Amino acid sequence: MDNSLKIQFALTQKWIEPKDAVVFGVFQGEEIPCGLGFKKETAEKEAVQLFPVFSKIKKYLALKDFSAEFGKIATLYPEDALYKRVIVCGLGKKEELDAEKLRQTAALAVAALEAMGTARASFTLFGAPSQSAQDRLTAIFEGAALALYKFDPYKKGKEDAPARISDVEFLLPEILSPEQVDALKKEELRDLVVAEAVYFARNITNQPASVVTPKFLVQTAQALAKQFPETVSFRAFGKKELGDLNMNGILAVGGGSNNEPALIVLEYKPVSAQESAPSVALVGKGVCFDSGGISLKPSENMDEMKMDMAGAAAVMAAFFAAARLGVSVPLACVIPAVENLPGSTAYRPGDIIKSASGKTIEVLNTDAEGRVILADALHFAASQLKPAYLIDLATLTGACVAALGSHYAAVLGTDDELVRSLTEAGIKTGEKLWALPLDDVYKKQIESDIADVKNIGGKTAGVITAALFLKEFVGGHNKYAHIDIAGTAMLSEKQGYKPKGGSGFGVRLLVEFLENIR
Ligand code: BES
Ligand code: ZN
Ligand code: ZN
Repeated sequence: MDNSLKIQFALTQKWIEPKDAVVFGVFQGEEIPCGLGFKKETAEKEAVQLFPVFSKIKKYLALKDFSAEFGKIATLYPEDALYKRVIVCGLGKKEELDAEKLRQTAALAVAALEAMGTARASFTLFGAPSQSAQDRLTAIFEGAALALYKFDPYKKGKEDAPARISDVEFLLPEILSPEQVDALKKEELRDLVVAEAVYFARNITNQPASVVTPKFLVQTAQALAKQFPETVSFRAFGKKELGDLNMNGILAVGGGSNNEPALIVLEYKPVSAQESAPSVALVGKGVCFDSGGISLKPSENMDEMKMDMAGAAAVMAAFFAAARLGVSVPLACVIPAVENLPGSTAYRPGDIIKSASGKTIEVLNTDAEGRVILADALHFAASQLKPAYLIDLATLTGACVAALGSHYAAVLGTDDELVRSLTEAGIKTGEKLWALPLDDVYKKQIESDIADVKNIGGKTAGVITAALFLKEFVGGHNKYAHIDIAGTAMLSEKQGYKPKGGSGFGVRLLVEFLENIR
């Protein structure tokens, strides 16, 4: 699978040359775009060369047709100018501009440029005075790169399709010093790694379950691990080893499919690590297809359940992005990979499973399978890897979709500080989390008459009872957080730079969290 962006990115300070399309940002009430910054020595010469462009923009803004409200966008065609097209984007009020608005603005510009069929686009470094050049670059880069994502390996007949944007350039203020430009180049490399990780997560989420099987996840993880012989180790447990480890939850859920289940364990050790225990273990739900099993789902929209491995996709993407970036924290990634199908070897409602932790689970609905496989994976991560922080991502409950829709994921944790750090990382990256209580008062709902715990929690508080179930298996870990991405992992309609389909939700948030730890 090719996860590269297939777009050339460049940084330049060369304003005086012909350009296909240049994107500017304007604040409400201002007469000229922001993010310019020409050098004194050259300003005069440039003023002459760029006069047609800026006078066109000034005249247009003076007309007040364009309010510069956030989300407004216009294309101007200056005559006899170096730039063929000028895209003016409204940024709203200066005090209200944040990174997410920059990303959304870049995405709007990309949509406009794509409609025009231009192959090259130049973005000026627009933003608020409070936003550093780095922050602006990251946000505009992410907005543009992530909006340019397409999932089309199965579409042919692209001959008459409009040309794609193949070159994106960032037109930096001239007043930036060579050192500042170098720092921005480094930032751009980091941003590219992160964007490719999001592409990776989106790609494997969008691929059908006939392609993304547990074995596919194993082979993908193994192949990627080989790229980091010094820092990343790979293990995968198949049916036999899962049996030896008493991972009967994973075996039970995976039992209905000929595609055998697996547990993937990746570990990353920074080159300069003092200790080797992972500081962070990321666990991701890897249900390659969730038919519901014997408790079969309705056929309408069942196809969407190819995305039930989006948690696995996100943690694997974040893990390898962190390895590429060489983050300073030891890291692990644990993925239980299964296919939940009905069949003569499938697990049944009424079955009682002895999980790897020794706790028994009464299965009352085979469609609540995520928590059953995560029980074993979380137990393994907590007891074998002993991380300081334990975080899982899972498309776990329909209740999460009902509660928060597609704009927020739910976060529940045993440590308020950890929940806060994750939430803050999400605010920065535009992957919003909302905390729900992981309070034992709800525990009654998952008490079983005949086993230690049951796998459904009744009609109410479904996100919380699912999380409380998971908490049973982390061995009292006091820095554990669960993120339910059921509503945010796969979108039924585009949200700016997040296209319809797999969103890659959580990847940037996790990388941001990992970069800022300690
Ligand atoms: N994978 C689903 C949750 C889901 C639903 C994700 C909709 C994305 C969109 C999960 O395995 C599931 O089926 N959960 C059940 C649990 C119930 C039977 C207790 C649910 O939420 O309906
Ligand atoms: Zn299910
Ligand atoms: Zn599921």
